[in-house]
Amino acid sequence: MTETVLVAYGSTNGSTAEIAEHIGEVLTKEGLTVDVRSAATVVGLGPYDAVVLGGGLYAGRWHRDARRFARRHGKALAQRPVWLFSSGPLDPSASERDIPPTPGVRRIADRTDARGHITFGGRLEGDVKGRMARMIVNSGKGGDFRDFAQIAAWAAEVAQDLSVRPPSP
Ligand SMILES: Cc1cc2nc3c(=O)[nH]c(=O)nc-3n(C[C@H](O)[C@H](O)[C@H](O)COP(=O)(O)O)c2cc1C
Repeated sequence: MTETVLVAYGSTNGSTAEIAEHIGEVLTKEGLTVDVRSAATVVGLGPYDAVVLGGGLYAGRWHRDARRFARRHGKALAQRPVWLFSSGPLDPSASERDIPPTPGVRRIADRTDARGHITFGGRLEGDVKGRMARMIVNSGKGGDFRDFAQIAAWAAEVAQDLSVRPPSP
């Protein structure tokens, strides 16, 4: 039977949502059944065999929707294979080296016994929400630092890991 995977995300300006969509496309190509949703809209994990959860980084913390999701579904997450991703750095650093999870995300990784975590570059440009965000863009420090080849490669690893180590019955 094909595994059904939830890719849930917390995103203010949409760039983490697009990363989640891209991960979903790769998992679908790899033969999995995939649901990509905003973390705030997920009611229960019953339909899902595995979960990929990601959040945009804001002041060193995951987006609130991703944090709340992890809290609300903690028990169900601990019973499923889980992968986590963060998205944030507005420079090429995330393509060049492994950026460890922030302390809060590390705690979530520990509690859910996550099989993996990765930090992807972020994006901040155009018509963004929030005073700080507009200040960053107006000062020329924004841009799109997401590496879609890196994102696809990571998603393919997730699919591979799931097919090698399917969730326990
Ligand atoms: C107010 C503010 C705070 C931010 N703080 C961080 C941070 O602590 N670490 C980081 O890597 N990126 C930080 N960023 C960059 C965002 O994480 C990045 O723009 C990300 O792609 C946003 O995701 P979203 O579009 O899904 O909301 C910050 C951006 C803003 C506007």
